[in-house]
Amino acid sequence: MAAWAEDHFGDAAPVKPVVLEFSMSSRRKPLFQKFAARQQLPLLFRRSLSGLLAVGALLLSLPTESRSADPSAATPADETVWQHAAVAADHPLASQAGVEVLRRGGNVVDAAVAVGFALSVLRPASSGLGGGGFMVIWDAKQQRAIALDYRERAPLAVSREAYAAAADESRKGGLAVGVPGHVRGLCHALEKYGSLPLAEVLKPALRYATQGVPLDDHEVALRKSQAKRAEPDADRFVGLWQQYLFEGNVPPVGTRVTSPQGRALQLIAEHGSDAFYRGEIAAAIVKLVCSRGSEMTLDDLAQMDVVERPVLTSQYSGFDVLTMPPPSSGGVALLETLNILDALEDGKLCIDLNRGRRDEHYYHVLAEVMKHAFADRAEFLGDADFVDVPVKRLTSDSYAEKLADRIQLDRTQPPEAYGRFLPKDDAGTTHFCVIDVAGNAVACTETINTSFGSWLVEPTCGIVLNNEMDDFTTAAGRPNAFGLIQSEANAIAPRKKPLSSMTPTILVKDGKAVFAAGASGGPRIISATLQVLLNMSRFGMTPQQAVRAPRIHHQWLPNTLLLESELMTEFGKPLQEKYGHAVSKSSGLAATQAASRMADGLRAASDPRKHGQAAGF
Ligand code: DON
Repeated sequence: MAAWAEDHFGDAAPVKPVVLEFSMSSRRKPLFQKFAARQQLPLLFRRSLSGLLAVGALLLSLPTESRSADPSAATPADETVWQHAAVAADHPLASQAGVEVLRRGGNVVDAAVAVGFALSVLRPASSGLGGGGFMVIWDAKQQRAIALDYRERAPLAVSREAYAAAADESRKGGLAVGVPGHVRGLCHALEKYGSLPLAEVLKPALRYATQGVPLDDHEVALRKSQAKRAEPDADRFVGLWQQYLFEGNVPPVGTRVTSPQGRALQLIAEHGSDAFYRGEIAAAIVKLVCSRGSEMTLDDLAQMDVVERPVLTSQYSGFDVLTMPPPSSGGVALLETLNILDALEDGKLCIDLNRGRRDEHYYHVLAEVMKHAFADRAEFLGDADFVDVPVKRLTSDSYAEKLADRIQLDRTQPPEAYGRFLPKDDAGTTHFCVIDVAGNAVACTETINTSFGSWLVEPTCGIVLNNEMDDFTTAAGRPNAFGLIQSEANAIAPRKKPLSSMTPTILVKDGKAVFAAGASGGPRIISATLQVLLNMSRFGMTPQQAVRAPRIHHQWLPNTLLLESELMTEFGKPLQEKYGHAVSKSSGLAATQAASRMADGLRAASDPRKHGQAAGF
């Protein structure tokens, strides 16, 4: 056994996995909602042929009475309904951490902070102390919405030229690392909107770090594949290799492992966020990244702050949608897509969302809507503190109507038909939600960008440093790790934040949160969040059904419609042959977490694609 592994497993055989206890009692109640169903008949049809086809299809399929949801949308037998609060994170013990804090009298923000710290230990490849995130909060008592931006920043002394030479510079190593915001963000959220002391909410994370947790399927598969990739560079990324990849000998599922982050968590519990930003940890981070080409300074860390931004809001189908403004592109793209769908339903009535049928026509329209939003993302979006982002225009009804008008209902179009911008010729994130019976909610997405971020691990506390600099436009026309081609609006500049796709979102009705959702998966976050929200709000699905349902993704460029295998089997052919999409099968599009508050209680679901499990009480 490798020296590090011996340290962490002790000399005994791996201990038995922790037995996870979840209440499995289910109310087994069907949940058919009819939120603000649009009952009007079409007012006008702008494109006569496609309009007529659409009306024909609609008339043939008009339901006789109530426009209920998908008949398959009965509450799944294994879906629990909770009465006080529910948490959905992408690791079962992270959801439990939130519940533990809620049971101790904490509020939804206390719970979210506990989950955020726990995930640093439980899913270290996805998010954590060396990363950043966005948190959207709905406070039902005060009727106020809060958006916290603790996304990483570019260091003050950053130079664009350093990144122009090779794409790798922004992916792995010192130049890939943005100044982390995670610890500041969570401590700020707790101090201002939480109710419990920091040491209290850190307890679950500390316990997981020091007592160890069993590796689950997701961790074993991911660490094995990362070990394979990192092996040739093991000397350059020795911290990652030894502390997280077991020097290539990843132990089997169920093996309990501790985390080197215990020390950092203990210091933060005792001294607050300055323990991370001003002490020996900050010095160790700066020393490491600067030895690998970064210009990050102690000042960059000491000055890292949290930005409170006005929440991006809109109305959709009777809900107030609360989502993240720039430097997220997710909120703008989400509202843009919902608005276009709204305009299409008003005008062309091309999709019968109220009947809850998700057929090839629905997926074609969804893909078209995504193509417009992603083309605009590529052209306009960046950190709004540095560039003008026309958020109002992009999320306005009049703009949505124009785009709806440009959509052809019977066929997809070439990339030039979307947005105005064409490029010159030339999976580490986590999302979680907390919701309670009083209608408060938190939707939070945190990231270190790709798996294990920059692959640099701070040596004293095992902090996995992000590679968020790759979310910038590193060179004109060069796609980032997610194939996104972006504009000058997202160019690197000192202290600027890289554009994000993270889309933590809450839907509020009558002053209380009804749904919360979000995802991990780069640009697929936007399309997955859109579909999960539509599944819950328009198709009457429970969170579990909404999260499990197969998904599509189109990001405009590359000009390919990705379909999860079930949808490929069912709709691949017509989408290709009838509508002209270039289709491709995908084994899994993003990982989503969602929660709902209904008359009979609270539900939450974690994506089976990432082996999460929700909890509640
Ligand atoms: O902020 C962003 O958009 C990316 N850093 C997110 C990366 C991601 O979701 C990777 N996922 N599994």
